[in-house]
Amino acid sequence: MKAKAMVLFVLSMLLVCAAPSGLYAAGADPGKGQSIYTNLCARCHGVEGKGNGVMKFTPPVADLTLPAVQNKLDATLMKEIHDGRKNTAMGTWKFVLSDEEIREVTAYLRTLNSGVRSSRP
Ligand code: HEC
Repeated sequence: MKAKAMVLFVLSMLLVCAAPSGLYAAGADPGKGQSIYTNLCARCHGVEGKGNGVMKFTPPVADLTLPAVQNKLDATLMKEIHDGRKNTAMGTWKFVLSDEEIREVTAYLRTLNSGVRSSRP
């Protein structure tokens, strides 16, 4: 009985610890995220993330430094990167980037914040 309880405890702790890693970019390596960003995202979003890359589209490329973007939850940004935005030039990255790489690039996006750092995770 005691062993069973221990197993249940360990399993539930694993769940508690594993769950947030898919929801938050905190803890992911923004340095790795930067090289992903430079290689894949900067041509549209610009080196500084201001949406002033060499390629132009309609609707325009998002300025990732704005509060409108930075105030979104990590989970929302990661979903946008994972799935892309319908009917825009923002493509689906899930076939190119692993979940971990999406977390890393999201951690890097947080360093582009132009305004006051969002208090949300
Ligand atoms: C081919 C050009 C292009 C590339 C490459 C690109 N994006 Fe985008 N991205 C866009 C456009 C255009 C939008 C605006 C979509 C819209 O209007 O909804 C956008 C929107 C976004 C958003 C949503 C911003 C918001 O308003 O919430 C995020 C986050 C984002 N891009 C991240 C990335 C990341 C990270 C990469 C690299 C892995 C990347 N993008 C590569 C064109 C691009």
